[in-house]
Amino acid sequence: MCGIFGYVGTPAPVGAMVLGALRRLEYRGYDSWGVAVRDHDTVALAKRAGRIGEAAVTLPDSAIGFGHTRWATHGGVTDANAHPHLDESGRLAVIHNGIIENFRELREELEERGHEFRSNTDTEVVVHLVEEALAAGRSLIDATRDTFMRLHGLNAIIVMDVSQNELVATKTISPLILGLGDGANYVASDTTALVEYTRDVVYLEDNQVAVLRPDEVLLLDLHTGAPLPLRRERVDWETGDMSLGGFPDFMSKEMAEQGRVVRQIASGYGDYTRALATLIADSFGTFLVGCGTASYAALTGSYLFSRIARRHVNAVLGSEFKYQEHFLTDRSLALALSQSGETADIIEAMLTSRARGAQIGALVNVRGSTLDRMADFSVPLGAGPEQCVLSTKAYIAKLAILTLTAHTLAGTPEIGRDILGRAADALDRFLSEGGSARVRAVAERIGAADHLYVIGRGLNYPTALEAALKIKEVSYVHAEGFAAGELKHGVIALLSEGTPCLVFAPMDETRDDILSGAMEMKSRGGLMIGVSPQHDPVFDIYIPVADVGDASPIVNALPAQLLGYHLAKLRGYDPDKPRNLAKSVTVK
Ligand code: F6R
Repeated sequence: MCGIFGYVGTPAPVGAMVLGALRRLEYRGYDSWGVAVRDHDTVALAKRAGRIGEAAVTLPDSAIGFGHTRWATHGGVTDANAHPHLDESGRLAVIHNGIIENFRELREELEERGHEFRSNTDTEVVVHLVEEALAAGRSLIDATRDTFMRLHGLNAIIVMDVSQNELVATKTISPLILGLGDGANYVASDTTALVEYTRDVVYLEDNQVAVLRPDEVLLLDLHTGAPLPLRRERVDWETGDMSLGGFPDFMSKEMAEQGRVVRQIASGYGDYTRALATLIADSFGTFLVGCGTASYAALTGSYLFSRIARRHVNAVLGSEFKYQEHFLTDRSLALALSQSGETADIIEAMLTSRARGAQIGALVNVRGSTLDRMADFSVPLGAGPEQCVLSTKAYIAKLAILTLTAHTLAGTPEIGRDILGRAADALDRFLSEGGSARVRAVAERIGAADHLYVIGRGLNYPTALEAALKIKEVSYVHAEGFAAGELKHGVIALLSEGTPCLVFAPMDETRDDILSGAMEMKSRGGLMIGVSPQHDPVFDIYIPVADVGDASPIVNALPAQLLGYHLAKLRGYDPDKPRNLAKSVTVK
């Protein structure tokens, strides 16, 4: 969370440059933004609550500047709480990503010593601590080191002092990447913000301190201050098309790309899925770990491996993993599923797994991300940049890879390729044959509903959970997904006349039971919306999807994504940036 970009070089219109980079990073947080540049012996600052939008800054040209897009953790969404934060003299500025767990103690201590706070953020303690260390005669580098060592939690900070021609940065878990240019150097939370300027990068590791100057970048050990070698890497992959390409928003663009993503996995992922299948076969206990949408891909994986490959794999929520770590051994395989590759809970789960000697695998979309680099074996999702905060095509890519891997493990990769090929065509056909308009009509019909329920069984139970998440996070309609068999155990009490209920009824062994559940809901007033290859009288509204066998979770996801999308649009919400969310969840 929080996008960060910094520049040190020859004097330039840094304000506009930083703002441009922040626009590309805004999916990391869009509560507020801010830019600071050195202006002789003061910091010139522009910061504001709200999205960047068409904002422009009028800041002087400068050789040093940085900026931040915020996802609020401590303190409301206000101008004062936006980063950068300055010290009392206005000579020091700080930007930060993370949560300073001990900020209350630090703030009390600093207030007792007379510091005045201008914000409610945890971040502001950093600038006052650095200020004190400088006053005590420490260099900017050492003052930053001293300060960072006092912070608890997973954090990244960058410090600017107008008397120095340098930026000092350090981090734990929260990503920072250094960009090495010609007469200029850069730092960012994300490679995508750097490639416009340079493809030579250094991934800052935990407990390293980077000192960026126009003509050099130094790396030091946080604890000892000893110099460290700079491990330069070349970004040799394309960041992909980041434009809207004629679509009204990224969500529609990314939903439309799903057929291509699945087709590419069906035809080109043989080597990856063979290697993954071998790792799973050789492990004694495989754990699929994900958060949110990725956790539903993981849960789908556990059904796929069970039914296709007769193999038990565990699906675990990233944030709950540490409470189940006791099952890990040096023969376990922990497989991280993540679009961003930066989700703090997943990184922590993988660090725990590594500490127990387990092997680490990853299915990750963002190349060069923390999980991509830390995994022993990483499979790229190949979905291309996912810029809508909601995960759509990365989810579908995870499902496709898991489906093909399960079939490979079962010795039937050709069946996997076949059903994925059919699913890819079905996704494209759904959109080209008016599926979106059909779902929009459903959204119009149920638009006034406050609650919506989704049921599925077996392979499509996780689909129901994912459908409900997609609908609620973008449209703010309260949606809940259930295993249809659980209805009579309490859930059915929620139904009243006209409550919309989405029903996933594929042509598999779950069909009869799911239709019985739907009938029970209908008898209690539910408005049944069937997503199925075949109509049934229980459906009040029918959304036809193709019959693609065990790839049904892939084709079923699209109507649910579209339903969320159209409900959001009808209610006047931006589907790409739902309230309170951010794309990379780098805090716990
Ligand atoms: C929902 C969504 C989130 C993410 C979750 C994990 O649409 O996008 O639930 O799936 O935050 O993110 P990644 O996949 O980046 O680890």
